Amino acid sequence: MSAIATSLLLFGATGDLSRRMLIPSLFGLAHDGLLHPDLRIIGTARSALDVAEFRAMAAAALESAIEADRRPAAAVAAFLDRLTYVSLDATQPAGFSALAAEVGDPARLAIFLSTAPSLFGPTIAGLSGAGLATEGARLALEKPLGHDLASSCAINDAVASAYPEHRIFRIDHYLGKETVQNLLALRFGNILFEPLWNATGISSVQISVGETVGLEKRGDYYDGMGALRDMVQNHMLQLLALVAMEPPARLDPTDVRDEKVKVLRSLRPITAADVATHSVRGQYAAGAIHGQPMPGYLEELGRASDTETFVALKAHVDNWRWKGVPFYLRTGKRMPERVSEIIVQFRPVPHSMFGGAAMQANKLIISIQPDENVGLMMMAKLPGLDRDGLKLRAVPLDIGLPGAFADVRRRIAYERLLLDLVEGRQTLFVRRDEVEAQWQWIDAIRAGWASTGMAARPYAAGTWGPSAAIALTERDGVSWHD
Ligand code: BG6
Repeated sequence: MSAIATSLLLFGATGDLSRRMLIPSLFGLAHDGLLHPDLRIIGTARSALDVAEFRAMAAAALESAIEADRRPAAAVAAFLDRLTYVSLDATQPAGFSALAAEVGDPARLAIFLSTAPSLFGPTIAGLSGAGLATEGARLALEKPLGHDLASSCAINDAVASAYPEHRIFRIDHYLGKETVQNLLALRFGNILFEPLWNATGISSVQISVGETVGLEKRGDYYDGMGALRDMVQNHMLQLLALVAMEPPARLDPTDVRDEKVKVLRSLRPITAADVATHSVRGQYAAGAIHGQPMPGYLEELGRASDTETFVALKAHVDNWRWKGVPFYLRTGKRMPERVSEIIVQFRPVPHSMFGGAAMQANKLIISIQPDENVGLMMMAKLPGLDRDGLKLRAVPLDIGLPGAFADVRRRIAYERLLLDLVEGRQTLFVRRDEVEAQWQWIDAIRAGWASTGMAARPYAAGTWGPSAAIALTERDGVSWHD
């Protein structure tokens, strides 16, 4: 393992992600004694703040993100002491020497870029010019890593000109989530599933990520991206890759990412000829969630737009293991619930000895959020005297994750990812070939939408997207798990 960083340089330090996630996560780690005692956090952004003002901003961020009993005053003060700030216009190379002076030894440096992608190029040039790309310095990049394959390659090239791949940490925060990693434990820590984990045992897979939020003041960013690029290109495809990959030999960055990229490269392209049957675009209109009235997307945005806030896809992984097994993906804003889950639908038993008794095939339900859990739907006998024959019903065999680990604190994704960054573990970060395979698949869908003029269909806020999304699976005799 490489050296533990003693300086963390945070670009975009006054931004939304920094205040909501990064600063609170760093505090959580510091408070639990998990950060190197010498680790200094150097915030940088355009805002002309002095160190005291930056610390005040960080203190306010902690107050709004962390409950009072989890942030004792002494711990907050000790954390704020680690913080310093350098104001910088990343487009001006001259400013970087002040940063370098603040950093000290660049061999023990971790850098986190949470800025607009348009600043990635100049920032990397500035860092490299100021001697902050030397051996040992690591660079983390927050999404969006481009808006299509070409722009993503341009970013990757710019980064590669200064940092080698083994020191680049591309963030997909879903990989930092506890239950996402539990997928690995479930698949490869148990012998039960793997023999059936293929087209012989599984008839379909569903991955749903529903959110109740709408635009959240991110109108300009979101409207330029849409659900396909905001959620599917990264988070959903990473989930799919973890579900579908071959067993890696070791839990290390090369082995795990080699297996994921093979899946991503095996995704069957959804082209113009398939978009009508394999994809659905939706945009929320006014509606209600939990009884609360919600405005439509266009009202929130304040202008006309055809951007999709919902997408459903039928994907295929064209390899030996998954031949003919559909992977249904759907994600959207203003859904009825915030829920992310993966449903693995097993095939029915080949023959039922129970006469006409209703049978349901086994189903594995992996809940990622808000609740973490894993449940397996199993057939069990309904209690009774059974004069008319046995009756069966599907009941959950529940792994009971919340109860089993009730006393263990759950870490938010950024705590894990920031710790891995400062300590130099790369397994949970996305490699260049993965990102590019993801974009390649997404670009083909977008090209298909454009050439066929496929518009986003309206759906009422508080529903699971346009009815076409239901038809997408029902045509195959499959229902979404609601
Ligand atoms: C981000 C997207 O990457 O993930 C957001 O840009 C989305 O639009 C968010 O809301 C969802 O993350 P989580 O962890 O709340 O599921």
